[in-house]
Amino acid sequence: MSKMKKVLYFYVLLSIVWVFGTDHLIALLDYDIYTFIAISKIKAVLFIAATFIFIKYLISKNEQFQELEREKEKLLSLINSMVDFVNFKDGEGRWIEVNTFGLNLFDLQGVDYKGKRDRDLAEYTEFYREALLYCEESDEQTWMSGSVSRSEEQIPQPDGSFKTFDTIKVPLFNDDGSRKALVVIGRDITQMKEAEDRLQKAEKLSVVGGLAASVAHEIRNPLTSLKGFVQLMNKNDSVNKLYYEIMENELDRINEIVGELLVLAKPQNIRFTKTNVSKLMCNVISLLESQANMYGVNIVFQSDAGMKEIDCEPNQLKQVFINIIKNSIEAGSKSISISLFEEGGSARIMIEDDGEGMEEERLKRLGEPFYSVKEKGTGLGLTVSYRIIQSHGGTITYSSKVGEGTKVVIDLPVKRT
Ligand SMILES: Nc1ncnc2c1ncn2[C@@H]1O[C@H](COP(=O)(O)OP(=O)(O)OP(=O)(O)O)[C@@H](O)[C@H]1O
Ligand SMILES: [Mg+2]
Repeated sequence: MSKMKKVLYFYVLLSIVWVFGTDHLIALLDYDIYTFIAISKIKAVLFIAATFIFIKYLISKNEQFQELEREKEKLLSLINSMVDFVNFKDGEGRWIEVNTFGLNLFDLQGVDYKGKRDRDLAEYTEFYREALLYCEESDEQTWMSGSVSRSEEQIPQPDGSFKTFDTIKVPLFNDDGSRKALVVIGRDITQMKEAEDRLQKAEKLSVVGGLAASVAHEIRNPLTSLKGFVQLMNKNDSVNKLYYEIMENELDRINEIVGELLVLAKPQNIRFTKTNVSKLMCNVISLLESQANMYGVNIVFQSDAGMKEIDCEPNQLKQVFINIIKNSIEAGSKSISISLFEEGGSARIMIEDDGEGMEEERLKRLGEPFYSVKEKGTGLGLTVSYRIIQSHGGTITYSSKVGEGTKVVIDLPVKRT
């Protein structure tokens, strides 16, 4: 029963006791009629005065209550309009208030969350279960530290990606040192982190680019004479033919790597021409067909009929496609599906495989020069590809799940600006 209702019942009860009790008392005292009338009048006046005080008290309480409600409304609309995650918890970790952003973040819309802990709410959402349980753990760490904590927390998304939150937790304590409340505020910094990563990659690329130019140049010349002499010796010496062949093959490989390094070098002489990317992709697929067959990989390609020609350097784009598809083949895929279509004024090339996939750590390092987990990989394939797409004014995005496969989305502007 609410406090207001209790007060009201108490008033009614007291009034009944007053009216009948005092009447009974007066009757017992056996006053004459005049005294009886006078006492009754005084009784009525006292009753009116008491009722007046009582109603005034109720009105002022009601006003206070309404004021509180208005303040609460204001606070709620303030935290709900925030694009940050805001959550107030009590000292026991029970949710007191959370904004709409927070409810949407954990897919808890419509759940009566008040008074529940993270672990109770984890029962409502299978997908965010782990994330909620982790929040409880990290809350505990904040309580133990006894001061404001700040950390980056990752929340998984249904599409397989992660959102990164810059999370601040403020623990509040009672005077006796017991836990009072915890304020949690989280800001979505996913885009900022991605931009930072891109910038870091671009910086590394430009450093490697500068280095590559000089190194590649220095290696090319002695390489040419080495190859010439090996070929010559191969012709004149029939005993060591096998060794010469191995040497020639290895020299070719060095030459290939140097060639890739040269692509990274700046400045580059790129000649853009209008190219039919669909035809270009068909070429690449037929080029890789024998390797794909060897690994038992099926490549499916589909392209929008009305695809416009795009401004690009066809040989460089070819190299990008080869690098990406080769990676998919090497990742143990059974099927690679490639699609080409227009999306918001750009040409979108999507390459999806069902290979081994990559964990988050590997995904972050893609495009880093010399990063490879393959025994014979140089780790330049994607560095070169990123550089080429960058010089075309496009973007390349990887998403992947271990054991499920990898998806690469390349967006290229149709026209050069
Ligand atoms: N489709 C994919 N599936 C799984 N892992 C991939 C995929 N594409 C790239 N990778 C990972 O990214 C790493 C870097 O790729 P990158 O093409 O740059 O180098 P590499 O293939 O190792 O060597 P190379 O320079 O010979 O291409 C690879 O070693 C591989 O672990
Ligand atoms: Mg590769």
